[in-house]
Amino acid sequence: MTEWQKSGWRAKPRVQMPDYTDQEKLEAVEAQLSKYPPLVFAGEARKLKKALGAASRGEAFLLQGGDCAEAFDQFSANSIRDTFKVMLQMAMVLTFGAKVPVVKVGRMAGQFAKPRSAPTEVVNGVELPSYRGDIINELAFTPEARIPDPAKMLQAYTQAAATLNLLRAFSTGGYADVHQVHQWTLGFTEGEKAAKYRDMANRISDTLDFMKAAGVDSDRAHTLQTVDFYTSHESLLLEYEEALTRQDSTSGKWLAGSGHMIWIGDRTRQPDGAHVEFARGVLNPVGLKCGPTTTAEDLKVLMSKLNPENEAGKLTLIARFGAGKVGEHLPRLIKTVAEEGANVTWVCDPMHGNTIKSSTGYKTRPFDLVLREVREFFAIHNAEGTVPGGVHFEMTGQDVTECTGGVRAVSEEDLSDRYHTACDPRLNASQSLELAFLVAEELTARREAQLATKAG
Ligand code: PEP
Ligand code: CO
Repeated sequence: MTEWQKSGWRAKPRVQMPDYTDQEKLEAVEAQLSKYPPLVFAGEARKLKKALGAASRGEAFLLQGGDCAEAFDQFSANSIRDTFKVMLQMAMVLTFGAKVPVVKVGRMAGQFAKPRSAPTEVVNGVELPSYRGDIINELAFTPEARIPDPAKMLQAYTQAAATLNLLRAFSTGGYADVHQVHQWTLGFTEGEKAAKYRDMANRISDTLDFMKAAGVDSDRAHTLQTVDFYTSHESLLLEYEEALTRQDSTSGKWLAGSGHMIWIGDRTRQPDGAHVEFARGVLNPVGLKCGPTTTAEDLKVLMSKLNPENEAGKLTLIARFGAGKVGEHLPRLIKTVAEEGANVTWVCDPMHGNTIKSSTGYKTRPFDLVLREVREFFAIHNAEGTVPGGVHFEMTGQDVTECTGGVRAVSEEDLSDRYHTACDPRLNASQSLELAFLVAEELTARREAQLATKAG
């Protein structure tokens, strides 16, 4: 393989990237960004890689979540706080099920650029270029708004830096207190499922009380009040990524300074394309979305390019097949991984294969299908003897109505009430927590089955 350069992607075929018309302005923005500090540091990316390696062996579990697309006009300290808070609540529930540390990674502080299924959009007979995320153009349906503007990269950097600053403060400032667990299920009022979740929350709460009584709480308060929280995004807009790439002074290796983890989307994973070329040279952990069209041949090439030294934790395969399709695709890709002897961390994204149009015209995701895909992902790993290493969700701490279903049921008619996403529909806080309880159940069942095998 040829030696890697941070600009090497420019010689490769690219898809899903804007054609900037003002080259001079583009170059000025790139020059400016290249002088800005990186948002993350090499030591942090290595620490995350190690944690993901543990997840690949079942010694940790990844929780990755956040907006489909961060938006400039929805940027606020409260919404960052609320998403962070729900992720910590979910992590607590998952830790209880998995009995291993939960690795927390936000789709935050850089998740601005979006691949689209069509290059243009038609509304009332008018055709305009598609919206590609706030780092590229604007959602408003006017010709001016849809022109890609390089200066938006500077605004995205500023928002990412401010977001990360707040997340770093929340992570260490005692905000991450876990002693609130019985409050979390207060909204779950009805039915058998709610009772089961409340029971689990009570057991978590009892455990914490016991630890406090035993003196663990006061001595080790630090571990319960600080967390490692990492950032991630799709590495789609390569001009932005290249401009934030820095050489690590201790190892001489290259770091994507835009976030701790980057991933390659299902639409940009061409083995000889620009996005793979960029990602193959950075030291960060890299995610690769795997969909129904991922072939064994492509996966082999991608695994050897994206993880040439076969490091644990370097490559995360994010399965997003859709409910009902996991059985058809996951076993064949698990077989390919085994044939190659490749180290990967398997993660389930039950969102992107389950997007439908509601009868009321909204893009939505039925919560039942999301749950079903998660269950299928676990069932297949249990049957294959492989490790389900984590989950990847589009979610928010806000009380939105974007996905249908859940214990506090959102109906198709409700979607119009609080539908705020700039791109794909997200789980709201209550749905996110419910999903965490389901995953915790799956993890508990898996652990109990393993213990039973060992005992027998
Ligand atoms: C996403 O994660 O927002 C996304 C576009 O996913 P995918 O590439 O899997 O479709
Ligand atoms: Co999305």
